[in-house]
Amino acid sequence: MPSDNESLTQIETQARGQLDAVSDEDALERWRVAFLGRRGRLTLVLRGLTDLPVDERKRVGAHANHLKRELETALQEKKARLAQSITEALVEERIDVTLPGPPLPRGRLHPTTQTLRDVLDCFVSMGFQVVEGPEIEWDHYNFEALRIPKDHPARDMWDTLWIDYEKDGERPMLLRTHTSPMQIRVMEQTQPPIRVVVPGKCYRYEATDPTHEWMLTQVEGLAVDEGISLGDLKGTLADFAHRIFGPDRKVAFRCDYFPFVEPGMELRIDCFLCGGQGCRICSRSGWIEILGAGMVHPEILEAVGYDSERYTGFAFGMGIERIAMLRHGIEDIRLFYSNDLRFLRQF
Ligand code: FA5
Repeated sequence: MPSDNESLTQIETQARGQLDAVSDEDALERWRVAFLGRRGRLTLVLRGLTDLPVDERKRVGAHANHLKRELETALQEKKARLAQSITEALVEERIDVTLPGPPLPRGRLHPTTQTLRDVLDCFVSMGFQVVEGPEIEWDHYNFEALRIPKDHPARDMWDTLWIDYEKDGERPMLLRTHTSPMQIRVMEQTQPPIRVVVPGKCYRYEATDPTHEWMLTQVEGLAVDEGISLGDLKGTLADFAHRIFGPDRKVAFRCDYFPFVEPGMELRIDCFLCGGQGCRICSRSGWIEILGAGMVHPEILEAVGYDSERYTGFAFGMGIERIAMLRHGIEDIRLFYSNDLRFLRQF
């Protein structure tokens, strides 16, 4: 234990030197504990005074007490300086929270999403409900239950991406090629009257070209009730076409074949580019097909447990990208998903 002036001088030199190097409050506290704390170096000197002869006790005691006051003063001064420098740093860093921030770039909805929402709004206003279904589907719902058994030539209409999963030597899972499987799923779970529209992504193993993508968005429609007729189908779709494309657009229905409807048809509108004269976009026909439709096949109604003598229904399925192309005069479907902002910012 230091017990003379020399030791006190040493303590003072070290204390002052270390205090100079202190730069934050934690280090200052460590310094206080080391020199002035309960087991601090100066405190130990003061406690050891009782062991000294009276003369020396007085001399060393006076010196030690003087040093203690000095170090306590130095501690307070350092504390004040640290607080001051923290305040100065805060003033330096001050943020004016009232300043307006830099403007955030505003995003926008993808043109497919915009058209999808308009199409759904149109059908919702006619009393249809929106439901969604799985993009990974069973062969059963995508094909079999829609009267497209294995080896049926109609399977060629939907080139399929199969999921790499085998059961009993077969691959029963696929990426749905259309939203029509939801016709079956909805009918299995509900009793008529039914009025639903089903938006969703579909996938086809197809080479891309200006009007074909391997991923497309469809909206399926299904209405089943007593007394639903082909007239209801035509009225609903003609109203839809005029609301989406404008009242002046010509619409035409033409026979088409889909195994799950009877009769089947396609809806066409006159070409947006040539106005019906015939051009590259409409394959010189003057017309552009926008959807497939028809009356739900009675065998399908029976298979889900409906009485096909009592109930009839219509169904339709459309490609949303194609509809967006017609509305905006877009000539190549591949622009939708190539992520070119110069294209996307136009909508
Ligand atoms: C079907 O997918 C039927 N499920 C439609 C249907 C539903 C018929 C209910 C009857 C009753 P289709 O393969 O023609 O049919 O496709 C329907 C629409 O999807 C087409 O009119 C077109 O707008 C769009 N479409 C089809 N293939 C592509 C593709 N590769 N790229 C972009 N759009 C496509």
